[in-house]
Amino acid sequence: MQDLVIAPSILAADFARLGDEVDQVLAAGADWVHFDVMDNHYVPNLSFGPVICQALRRHGVTAPIDVHLMIRPVDRIIPDFAAAGASLISFHPEASDHVDRTLQLIQEQGCQTGLVFNPATPLDCLRYVLDKVDLVLLMSVNPGFGGQTFIPGTLAKLEEARALIDAHPRDIRLEVDGGVGPGNIADIVAAGADTVVAGSAIFGQPDYVAVIEQMRSRAAS
Ligand code: DX5
Ligand code: ZN
Repeated sequence: MQDLVIAPSILAADFARLGDEVDQVLAAGADWVHFDVMDNHYVPNLSFGPVICQALRRHGVTAPIDVHLMIRPVDRIIPDFAAAGASLISFHPEASDHVDRTLQLIQEQGCQTGLVFNPATPLDCLRYVLDKVDLVLLMSVNPGFGGQTFIPGTLAKLEEARALIDAHPRDIRLEVDGGVGPGNIADIVAAGADTVVAGSAIFGQPDYVAVIEQMRSRAAS
């Protein structure tokens, strides 16, 4: 299993101070920036797009930016995110008419690829495209909003995804998104996750160093 990656979701940050928030959370020990893109169509909420990603790069953010597209269609915005400095671009298979083609498009744009599975979406298509996937993201809430409660059935699904990944020769990360925090990270990592997104659990605390340290120590326990 790979080292634990903690990816704070900036959806829960103070947008009026976004550059400072990202600097602080990275200085506090976070590894990636999780960037939730919502279109008020695929999901019932609206967030931000490539210009904000580009603004973070211009601000000086060098950490990986983990773009989570909750949009439909997906293909036409991918080159814009690649140009804006995205490191990894994940999408939901049901939001693309041609999943394999979208994965190739992300690769052609020089980014790493991710496939995202909603709580009730089976992992069925994964086996056919695993050779083109760098990250599998399991949603542990229904996408669209931060601050929701972790769905416990995700733990069994994580074990299923971990078995598929371990049977594959390439390094593929297994990420969980939604309702993750110090109280459940040990179970999540034990079930096979190596990458966790946390929005409200981190940005909702005054001391980012303390909460990230707490998450790492509980994950290791
Ligand atoms: C939900 C987003 C998540 C969310 C996580 O649609 O994909 O990344 O911001 O927020 P918390 O950690 O507060 O559940
Ligand atoms: Zn997300």
